Amino acid sequence: MTGPIPDSLISRLLAAERITIFTGAGVSAESGVPTFRGNEGLWKKFKPEELANLTAFMKNPDLVWEWYQARRTIIGSVQPNAGHRALAEMEGLFPACALITQNVDNLHRRAGSRNIFELHGNIERNYCLTCGTRYTGPELPQTGTVPRCSRAGCNGLIRPDVVWFGEMLPEDEWEGAVRASASADVFLSIGTSGAVYPAASLPLMAKQQGAWLVEINPEPTPLTPSADLFLQGLSGEILPAIVRTLNERRDQ
Ligand code: OAD
Repeated sequence: MTGPIPDSLISRLLAAERITIFTGAGVSAESGVPTFRGNEGLWKKFKPEELANLTAFMKNPDLVWEWYQARRTIIGSVQPNAGHRALAEMEGLFPACALITQNVDNLHRRAGSRNIFELHGNIERNYCLTCGTRYTGPELPQTGTVPRCSRAGCNGLIRPDVVWFGEMLPEDEWEGAVRASASADVFLSIGTSGAVYPAASLPLMAKQQGAWLVEINPEPTPLTPSADLFLQGLSGEILPAIVRTLNERRDQ
């Protein structure tokens, strides 16, 4: 995007009580975390059906574990970008501001966002498939093979706390996300291709309930024709510009 942030957006935001933000892998792209779709996307190089589902894990737990360990290494070596930081700042700019993310990379939290609904889990958490005991990354042995539960007598396989294909979304997170979408005055959909349901139904749900729908993405998506405003460009550039403009207008 070139040029200033449209006045229509700034006026809507200044008048809004409730802002809901919905993010996908695109917001972390400028940090160096690969997205899933598109030419450089993860799902071009790896088959989700071999890595991101329970059957694949049961068949070859070490392979799936190793893949998640490799992603954790990437995520641990990168930093939140200007887009994540702008979203964290937005939390303090409105009476109510909720952030719904499909990302498992924890970068929103590391940037300072607190009111987050993580629809697809969080790669930094793990749990035992057998007894449900929870583990954070650093508690586990850093080997190439899947760790086992250390609870007495359990020895179950430990899996990442992420939602795999065919699995339900975590109930509390989903219900919170639906509430935040249905009550939003302005809903921002940022850096997502809108390909994975039920998450992808939230922007239209918000619009049907009266939200003004804004999309930020370098490419049009299936959501674009329904957006009230489409800002074409990088979230790491557009989001800081929105926060800057909002702060300037509030100071006037
Ligand atoms: P995708 O990889 O499907 O889409 C990423 C989107 O980000 C695309 O529309 C890009 O055009 C856009 N994008 C790229 N760079 C950007 C930037 N700098 N600023 C803004 N947008 C940018 O990722 P998601 O929509 O997040 O699910 O994918 C949804 C789900 O599919 C993921 O949560 C994951 C995956 O399978 C699970 O793991 C359950």
